[in-house]
Amino acid sequence: MLMLYYRLWDVHDVAVLLCFTLYMCHQARAVSIQSTQHSLTRSVQEDAFFSVDVACNCTPTIQWTFMSSSVSRAIGVWRPGVFINITDDYSSRVEAHDNGSMGLSDLRLQDAGYYVVTVTDDMGGSKDAGYVLKVNEVLYEDLQYLSVSALALACLAALLMLAMWLLDKAYRKIVAWRRRKQMPVLHVPV
Ligand SMILES: *[C@@H]1O[C@H](CO)[C@@H](O)[C@H](O)[C@H]1NC(C)=O
Ligand SMILES: *[C@@H]1O[C@H](CO)[C@@H](O)[C@H](O)[C@H]1NC(C)=O
Repeated sequence: MLMLYYRLWDVHDVAVLLCFTLYMCHQARAVSIQSTQHSLTRSVQEDAFFSVDVACNCTPTIQWTFMSSSVSRAIGVWRPGVFINITDDYSSRVEAHDNGSMGLSDLRLQDAGYYVVTVTDDMGGSKDAGYVLKVNEVLYEDLQYLSVSALALACLAALLMLAMWLLDKAYRKIVAWRRRKQMPVLHVPV
């Protein structure tokens, strides 16, 4: 009876220990994502760097997805040192890094939206992190437009001033000419 009692305890202990070990192993192998920034603001044609640091005692699968109010599309999937698979639409603009970070160059207005990274470990556990990207229209186009408008206005102002100056001159000439014409009339003896 006592033997059986001990045996049961042994089995129980071993089971607990096994579970605990498995749990610790799983924890050690579980992925984590470190990212300090969660939103970026860039202008058209600039580059964005989505910096994350994936930690895992395994070879994680890193997957980036783009989401906006109207679309959701895959950007790329990679396993550091194993493969890199970037979607055709992004292949020329995306740079994949081993720590999970992604560089996106030559930004367009349509790139504005939500970027989600999903990291999966080889046990099937996964974690996500998200970024919000805002893309502003190129400032220099606005500036160009503004300077062209300013230049046009300045030209117009200069033309007006020139016209006024010419008119003023013409007026003075006419007045002088009239005076000269009227002078003899006044001096004609009656
Ligand atoms: C990830 O790696 C890239 C390139 O090696 C580096 O520039 C970036 O700072 C790293 N990010 C983090 C959060 O460690
Ligand atoms: C790359 O990903 C696309 C879809 O995301 C898939 O159709 C294609 O088979 C993948 N290619 C490789 C080599 O894994």
